[in-house]
Amino acid sequence: MNDRIAHAGLAARRMGAEEAAALIRPGMTVGMSGFTGAGYPKAVPQALAAHITQAHARGEAFALKVLTGASTAPELDGALARAGGIEFRLPYQSDPELRARINRGEIEYMDIHLGQVAQYAWFGFLGKIDVAVVEATAILPDGRLLPSTSVGNNKTWLDLAERVIVEVNHRQPLGLDGMHDIYYGTALPPHRKPIPLLKPGDRIGEPYLRVDPAKVVAVVETDAPDRIGRFTPPDETSTRIAAHLVEFFRHEIEAGRLSERLLPLQSGVGNIANAVLLGLRDGGFRGLSAFTEVIQDGMLDLIRDGTIETASATSFSLSPEGVAEFVRNIALYRQRIVLRPQEMSNHGELVRRLGCIAMNGMVEADIYGNVNSTHVAGSSIINGIGGSGDFARNGFLSCFVTPSIAKGGAISAIVPMVSHVDHTEHDVAVIVTEQGLADLRGLSPKQRARAIIAHCAHPDYRAQLADYFERACANSHGKHTPHLLGEALGWHQRYLDRGSMRME
Ligand code: COA
Repeated sequence: MNDRIAHAGLAARRMGAEEAAALIRPGMTVGMSGFTGAGYPKAVPQALAAHITQAHARGEAFALKVLTGASTAPELDGALARAGGIEFRLPYQSDPELRARINRGEIEYMDIHLGQVAQYAWFGFLGKIDVAVVEATAILPDGRLLPSTSVGNNKTWLDLAERVIVEVNHRQPLGLDGMHDIYYGTALPPHRKPIPLLKPGDRIGEPYLRVDPAKVVAVVETDAPDRIGRFTPPDETSTRIAAHLVEFFRHEIEAGRLSERLLPLQSGVGNIANAVLLGLRDGGFRGLSAFTEVIQDGMLDLIRDGTIETASATSFSLSPEGVAEFVRNIALYRQRIVLRPQEMSNHGELVRRLGCIAMNGMVEADIYGNVNSTHVAGSSIINGIGGSGDFARNGFLSCFVTPSIAKGGAISAIVPMVSHVDHTEHDVAVIVTEQGLADLRGLSPKQRARAIIAHCAHPDYRAQLADYFERACANSHGKHTPHLLGEALGWHQRYLDRGSMRME
């Protein structure tokens, strides 16, 4: 036994990653920990990838169904994909190797709302979970696990899997103890009860993950950091997007629809999200709260300076500097941050009841307000829908942000018709680009089109969009949501054919 593995029976099941990986057999469904590059198993997936490569060299088929919380890291998604060891993957991913193989048609990928994965598994929709591979910070004397930097779907994998492999990562700070809130009051319909969470900072569960020690077949010790890149500082585009949103919030306060403390914030990952958070601080907001998925560096800064009082999430996504700061002030962050299973952090009923302000990135929006968060030109996936749908559909306000152009101006982020729909016109309230903000609330399709073209489109594409809209209004067979069907996706086709959406 050592200080991190305090259960005698489980200490006796310590073994190397190679030996543990050998317990995973071809065709199995494996539930792994990991959410936005945090809390994923560091050693077993790599050892597994080596086994898979050896099996393929012997001419044996070896591929797995891999379920996670969300994106992981090169050591998990990258290694398994490169070995050709994934036949099916869900949910959100962002690994370049995995993405390339999905887009080459070699891996089946199911992109599912992050808040719904756990119940999907509980309903039996994903079949049997053979093995869970879950990173923990420590194992308690009674066998429960102190979670690490993400909770994700770990509770569900540990409950449902037939066998469990635990990776105890000595690098994860023991100061995480007390930060998690694992709610065990979930049930299946028709026996579900209201979730007793009234404020983002409420604790309604227990700080540890339960696991039946009899199911734990291996305990592997690791000592490796989460691998998350550095954030680039906000640039002019993201700063302008943030400024439009902050001005909009001020306007909503003046109109009496929001208080000075706003409502619980949800913000996606990335530089624009970070810029919005900084914009709120610089805009003088104080005492805010967050009910979101991921805590990024920017949010730590805001918690420290009092802009945000409490934050609920399921994962950290911190740069190396962010990790250092987190560890330095971990006692403060423990009072202000609650990490929950993603079925709670992204729960549609909680998002609606708390009245979250959802702010998510997107790939493109069309003139009527439908949003594509996931696909390039309709068929190549970038990452996945993540939690954007959990929040957009249920939030008090649903905002989508993007630069107005991509690929040096060859692509307009505002198009006649989106090439893939993740969020329908019915779920989108506000669209923001560096050009401006379109408030779509209470508007009909044609009114929305005028607002989006005028406020969000890049000047290089505004006339082209207005021309499409006017001709559609004149010639469409129906006048409610006017479209020229032969032309509506022509912008994407032009980009594929000629490398630009521009007409000339
Ligand atoms: N057409 C084609 N490609 C586009 C595009 C468009 N309209 N808009 C952006 N892209 C490309 C960019 O060029 C970039 O590709 P590159 O790396 O090859 O240059 C890539 O998409 C990412 O765009 P970027 O501008 O770096 O934006 P981002 O980091 O803010 O990501 C999303 C934008 C939409 C990909 C990202 O927000 C996402 O995955 N969202 C879905 C999940 C989500 O909303 N989660 C929120 C809950 S946490």
